[in-house]
Amino acid sequence: MLARAAEDRPTAVPAPNFDVVASLAKRRGFVFPSSEIYGGMAGFWDYGPLGVELKNNVKAAWWRHMVQLRDDVVGIDAAIIMNPRVWEASGHVAGFSDPMVDCRSCQNRFREDDLKGPPSEIACPNCGNRGSLTEARQFNLMFATTVGPVADSSSVAYLRPETAQAMFVQFDNVATTTRRKLPFGIAQMGRSFRNEITPGNFIFRLREFEQMEMEFFVHPRDEDEWFAYWVEARHRWWTDVLRIDGARLRLRPHAADELSHYSKQTTDIEYEYPIGWSELEGVADRTDFDLKAHAAGSGKRLAIFDEESGDHLVPYVIEPAMGVDRAVLTVLVDGYEEEQLDKESRVMLRIAPALAPIKAAVLPLLRNRPELVERARRLTADLKALMPAAYDDTASIGKLYRRQDEIGTPYCITVDPESFDDGAATIRDRDSMTQERVSLDLIPQRISDLVAGRSAWEGVPREAPAP
Ligand code: GAP
Repeated sequence: MLARAAEDRPTAVPAPNFDVVASLAKRRGFVFPSSEIYGGMAGFWDYGPLGVELKNNVKAAWWRHMVQLRDDVVGIDAAIIMNPRVWEASGHVAGFSDPMVDCRSCQNRFREDDLKGPPSEIACPNCGNRGSLTEARQFNLMFATTVGPVADSSSVAYLRPETAQAMFVQFDNVATTTRRKLPFGIAQMGRSFRNEITPGNFIFRLREFEQMEMEFFVHPRDEDEWFAYWVEARHRWWTDVLRIDGARLRLRPHAADELSHYSKQTTDIEYEYPIGWSELEGVADRTDFDLKAHAAGSGKRLAIFDEESGDHLVPYVIEPAMGVDRAVLTVLVDGYEEEQLDKESRVMLRIAPALAPIKAAVLPLLRNRPELVERARRLTADLKALMPAAYDDTASIGKLYRRQDEIGTPYCITVDPESFDDGAATIRDRDSMTQERVSLDLIPQRISDLVAGRSAWEGVPREAPAP
């Protein structure tokens, strides 16, 4: 059985709102406001002990599928600050901006495209004053800094607003050193920075965030075929690997007037959040825009030898680009469930075992029996050798289960007095709450098999082995 509840859940159940998820995230140490003791900072968040594990698992799932399991994609890890000429050539200095509107009364700022009408005709959404909104002006979203001891116009550099450009700028180095022929891709994950006018909705729109992007270089005549391939492949990654509910996902092709300056066609993968359908990932056909722009900007040839024509050609690029933080948010929102049991309710994160920060928690039934505690701790150590596992004896068993359900731990193991008679303990499944008795020595391998079998980790969903 696969872990995701999508098949079991009535699609009419709406996703929980962001406040509910943000509260769980804070309470259980997934995500905290950045520098909170100083009042926080809009658009910046920190990942706590469980959040960093979840985020790393999302990143590992992407890297595994986009790079390690493929023959045609390689990875890089580039510097965040690049030569500023990169951003001139790419068009970001001139055009990476949002239309911004100010309110003369309350001094608030808005993105024009968030307003419900022309600024001259509507009331300020914050203070309600009419006629107080300015005309829109373009606001560049790149964070500028200076590099070196002298801060003047010649030392200005930018924090990258997307990871993509490094893949274009390093195209020749990568293609040459790995002796590539078309088609092939270069992937990267890492921090990006955007001085968003209106950050918000928890970790949906941030000023510092992480992206995972892959530039797939193809022969120009194959662009449509590869574009369709990547839209489909990326959609399947969300449903089959991250186990996100397919009923809350949709594909939305961009209209001509919303395409980015570099894109010929783009399809977004959207999720139905409580704020409405919003972008999770974009797949864009960037044509030869970037390689040509950087060839012109640098004076270096960015092309690849084409055996068919016996000449060099500039490949086209298909780019799947997603945000890590938005993926973490989606996993939390999609997995969140409040379930009414016979006598009580439980909050549960029904997330794929491969993503769960802790795969198994060992809970001794009686904490005042030293030999039981000792055996439970030994089992925890054996589990830890194979996967992230935890030991907890600080509350009653019911409470311990609830704690683990709430952070998405797929398996709890209870060591009880009978364990000394039968040499076994009980494994309890988070989703079905069914229990099975398994020999203590076999438990680590059994949990390993269950986690692997239920996570579609290697690309092909595998059935859990029979008990
Ligand atoms: N290289 C193309 C590019 O950067 P994008 O649509 O601007 O395209 C790609 O960004 C993805 O990065 C988005 O689908 C989103 O998941 C994520 N992203 C973009 N801006 C973000 C922000 N301010 N906060 C969090 N994630 C963001």
